[in-house]
Parts: sequence; C-alpha cells; structure tokens
Amino acid sequence: MDSLLIKGGVPLQGDVTISGAKNAVLPILAATLLTSEPCVIRRVPNLSDVKFMGQILTWLGAQVRFEGDQVSVHAKKIKGAGDYDLIRKMRGSICIMGPLLGRLHTATVSLPGGCIIGARPINLHLKGFQALGARVTIERGYVQAKAKRLRGSAMFLGGRAGSTVLGTANVMMAATLAEGVTVIESAACEPEVVDLANFLKAMGAKISGAGSPTITITGVEELHGAEHEVIPDRIEAATYAIAATATNGEVTLRGVRPEHMHAVLDKLKDSGAKIDCNARGMTVSRNGRLKPVDITTLPYSGFPTDAQAQLMALMALTPGISIITERIFESRFMHVSELARLGADIEIEGPSAIVKGGKPLSGAPVMASDLRASAALVIAGLAAKGTTQVNRVYHIDRGYENIDGKLRQLGARIQRIEES
Ligand code: EPZ
Repeated sequence: MDSLLIKGGVPLQGDVTISGAKNAVLPILAATLLTSEPCVIRRVPNLSDVKFMGQILTWLGAQVRFEGDQVSVHAKKIKGAGDYDLIRKMRGSICIMGPLLGRLHTATVSLPGGCIIGARPINLHLKGFQALGARVTIERGYVQAKAKRLRGSAMFLGGRAGSTVLGTANVMMAATLAEGVTVIESAACEPEVVDLANFLKAMGAKISGAGSPTITITGVEELHGAEHEVIPDRIEAATYAIAATATNGEVTLRGVRPEHMHAVLDKLKDSGAKIDCNARGMTVSRNGRLKPVDITTLPYSGFPTDAQAQLMALMALTPGISIITERIFESRFMHVSELARLGADIEIEGPSAIVKGGKPLSGAPVMASDLRASAALVIAGLAAKGTTQVNRVYHIDRGYENIDGKLRQLGARIQRIEES
C-alpha cells in the first residue's frame, strides 16, 4: 500500500486545475445505462472509484472506453444484476439500481454494508422505488427491485439527516422512464444532482426543479444517447483552498465554480482567508492572522460534510477554540486521533469536536481511514514542522486525481512511496 511522505512548512504557490467532480461523474456514468445509444462524458477525473464504475458497467454488458478525461459508454444490451465483488468495493455503485429498474424493470445489487463514517442505510432509495410501484426484496445480502411497469407518483424522500444525494439521484433516474409524473419532495439540492439532471435532460428526459427541494419528472418512452461535460469538483477545490490558507500560501484554482462553494468560502473568509475571483480562476491567500470558526455540516447549500475534516485540520493550526459539529454522518471523526498524533488538541463531545487550536504541529506517521480524513492529514502534514508519512493513501486516490503531482506543482515537498 502506497504512502505519502510530506516535508511540511512550505507555503503553497501557483496555479492548480480542478478536476471533474467524483460525486457527479459516478451517477452520470450509471445514467448511461438508461439508453441503448452511445454516450460521451468529458472532464472525467482519473480516480479509482471511476475505474470501478467502468468495471461495473462493463460487467453489466456495456462497452466502456476511457481516453484521457473522456469516457464513451454504449449500453446497447445489458443485464439487471450487479456483481457482488465489484459493488461491495464502492458504495456509490448503488446508483446503478435506478437506471436498471427504469430501463429493465428489474435491478439486483448486493446490499451495501456499513461504512467507517456511518451506517449509511438505503431505506430512502428503496422507499422511492416502492413509490414508483416496484416490489423490493432483500435476500441473502442482495436487494432486488422489480416491477411490471413503473408509475410516476409523489413522494417525500427526507430522512434522519435531511435529504439523500444518491437516493434522489437513483429515484430521479428510474422515474425518467416511468409512466406519468413523479414529484420528489425533500430532494437533495447538491450541484451534483443538478449536473445529473442536466445530463438526463440532454438524453431527452423531462425534469424540472433540480437544485430545489421539489423535483418533478415526467416519464418518457425512451432516452437517447448524449454528450456531457462534468462540473468541477467543489470538494477538491475546497481542499486546495484550505491547504493554501493552512500553509499561508497563494494558490489560484483554475476551472472552479465559486457559486457551488458559498458555505465553504464564507467560513474560509471568516477564518482569515482572502478569496479573489478573477479571470484566471479563484485565488486563495491569507488575510492576516487565522481566526477560529464554528461549523455544522448540513445538506447543500449548508457546509458540506465532505470538507469537515479538512477544515478541522485548519482549525487545529488556528489559535483559539472552534466547535465542529457533524450532523450528516454518525462517525465522521476518524481523523481526530490521527491529527492528535501531529500534536493537535481536539476533544469529541457527542456530534461535536472541540478544537483548541494554535499549537504548532510536528510531523509523524499517520493512518488514513477514509477519503476526506486522508485529505485532512495531508493538509496538516503540509503545515507541520518536519516529516509526515500518510499511510493507506488508496483512500485518497479514490477521490483526488494525482494529488501528490498537483501539490508538487504548487511547491510542496511531497512524494509517493510505492510499496512493491
Ligand atoms: C453522497 O453520499 C456522497 N457520495 C458523499 O460523499 C457525501 O458525503 C454525501 O452524499 C452527503 O453529502 C457520492 O455522491 C458518491 P446521503 P450518499 O444519502 O448519497 C442518511 C465523499 O467523501 N440516509 O446524502 O450516500 C445517511 O446515512 C462521499 O465523496 C438514510 O438514512 O449520502 C446519511 O446520514 C462520502 N437513508 C444522510 O442520509 C438513505 O436511504 C446523507 O446521506 C440514504 C441516506
């Protein structure tokens, strides 16, 4: 298992280009299953999760071709059941269920187990499929949704933590080929849901209200092939913006969409960052001393849970007390004990972490536990004195394209240690 070796203390300087959004491209690739015609998706990031989705589509019978940041998919003839070994590797693959159910009226996938950040049930996805008239069964670790015909209907998809992103995506995809009108209330408003809806509309789907809590889908007979360019990754952008602030550097993020990042940029400004949107992109630097901020993670357009760990790393460097409350996932503080190994002073009280910041961090070997936790450890390592070794970086390769290469481009002293 590869690891990253980081010699900290260098302010990041220069330009970095933001890749396509992982959490948009996964459901968009799944949506290509809705048509028997060819589709072309552009600005596809080179990530292990994306490769997994490519393998799953191939397993289902689609022809998949990766060329640089472009993927061509032709799902001429497909089967309705996903392979256990492939599906279990990536929770996001649950979003093949909606397209399979929509097109074939049957979908069988292995039930995704729990995950290190939370239980992550799929009850809302299944509730949506049942509302469209599907019969849902769970047997021997597999979940199956089957229907003679799908009928549009009104449903409420809000849960314990509010809306569900992939649940909204899954039901929206199935409803595009249902008879009649579907109305999803308490729908997720994330930019990735809007990007998926735009791709579906390019395929001929009738959708309105994407980006708002009420999405209306009028079913059509069939969908055709289409081309689409994926939106930039707002979480990758947030990660580089926080790293620039943490290292007291000056970084310009190219190809970014600031309008997708209001909550993060607002908190960054409060913490002492200077954000300048210009012709080259978005330039992030420090604006004097760092200041502590409190955050609570919420569904979009609130502060994203996927940037919580990275912001915590910045607060560990910031003199004063900040309170970070995680409202989306039950156990998304795995990075706290690893940040403590670098010298951070953080206490967990129920859903909140109390960060007593300002103590200088010093490099140490640390262990990545999940995708965003590993990004936080990289940021802390870049700001710490001495050398940090981040182990199990396969977590970070799932969601960050060429992170060590991009950071080296910004002057970071970072190298990947490949384990033979
Ligand atoms: C998406 O996961 C993202 N993944 C996650 O990003 C992100 O953290 C999450 O949305 C929230 O923004 C992808 O898009 C591939 P949810 P998703 O359903 O859709 C509960 C990353 O780091 N819930 O919106 O699986 C659930 O347990 C990843 O890139 C139910 O109770 O998340 C959670 O507490 C991590 N029942 C909350 O809702 C359901 O049926 C939000 O989950 C579904 C969800």
